[in-house]
Amino acid sequence: MTNNIEQGLNKMEVKELKNNIYSVGAIDWKRRLFDELIPLPDGTSYNSYLIKGSSKVALIDTVDVSMSDVLLNNLKELKIKNINYIISNHAEQDHSGSISDVLKNYPTAKVVTNSKCKHMLVDLLQLPDEKFITISEGDSILLGDKTLEFIFAPWVHWPETMFTYLKEDKVLFTCDFLGSHFATDELFVKNEKKIYNAAKRYYAEIMMPFKTSVKRNLEKIKDLEIEIIAASHGPIYNRPKFILDAYKDWSSDEVKNKVVIPYISMHGSTAKIVDYLSGALTKKGITVESFNLTITDIGELAMALVDAATVIAASPTVLTGAHPNVLYAAYLVKVLKPKIRFMSIVGSYGWGGKMVEQLKETLASLRAEIIEPVIIKGYPKDQDLKLLKKLAEEIYRKHNEINIVKD
Ligand code: FEO
Repeated sequence: MTNNIEQGLNKMEVKELKNNIYSVGAIDWKRRLFDELIPLPDGTSYNSYLIKGSSKVALIDTVDVSMSDVLLNNLKELKIKNINYIISNHAEQDHSGSISDVLKNYPTAKVVTNSKCKHMLVDLLQLPDEKFITISEGDSILLGDKTLEFIFAPWVHWPETMFTYLKEDKVLFTCDFLGSHFATDELFVKNEKKIYNAAKRYYAEIMMPFKTSVKRNLEKIKDLEIEIIAASHGPIYNRPKFILDAYKDWSSDEVKNKVVIPYISMHGSTAKIVDYLSGALTKKGITVESFNLTITDIGELAMALVDAATVIAASPTVLTGAHPNVLYAAYLVKVLKPKIRFMSIVGSYGWGGKMVEQLKETLASLRAEIIEPVIIKGYPKDQDLKLLKKLAEEIYRKHNEINIVKD
């Protein structure tokens, strides 16, 4: 991997994952930010799959437009003269961005997708109407000896998302769903522990806001015979149970005996509060993950939120309110919609301000129970530490009430 990064090679060799099914996408070893927001510590890949049936050829999704050349070279390497169908499971440009380039090289190909996705592709890529074949839920397309079936899977994570199931080979192409931002030249997952973390990060950042849809779509495919899950980011799963079980766990209603504390400290008061509170919680057997927002990779924070029972925002008062970085983190927590049950606010102030109101308002839509905040004037003194100890006791009591404290 290191050599590839050093050499700046953004390519993916053609690999056959099953008879006449090829991985033809691109590895983006060097990309470090997605949507100009999400850190990609391990790069990513844009997986595209070519299926050669006995009479027709289909391409499942394409790649980011910046890597069209990789996809086209891979198709050339496979000596593909004709593509009948370009299946678009998702309109987002990291998968659809190269459709126009593929169409230029394979002008008789038709883009096969659902009606919602078609309209998005027309808007985003300005593809002409006559290039589309619009399919409905449950439709299938024959490639001769192979059959593609379409399973609509809305809101994982856009309204038009769908899966394609290759019936004879029992391969499910899920696009973003179940994927991971992880650049690797290994076709299949080898190190499940490593990919578990990458997939959890991906789930936290992309899928967690759509937990209900995640559950619904897991339910939808539960009776499908699946040998391989080929997502469009990260390595392919030849042990589907691994990632399906992980998704079931992450999207379940269960929370762990864990407190997440995103914080900022300007002159040490809030840091002292966080240290003391973390110690008091840890002594009670509660796992604490605190994040100094001046250096935190927000993906790590998102991952910690997946199964936490409680979030405590910790901030000094800046001018009249919370530190902007804490407000930003609170906003992220709000939009990622973790399944937290409780929240609180701790922090410090010099002469006043509306930090608590501001943070409460930001986090209100999560509908988590608010445990009485502890806001301290200046540096924490003995009586303040007692209040923090009481807060830790209250959190323990709340966790105990929902049966997540293990003795
Ligand atoms: Fe990988 Fe929603 O795009």
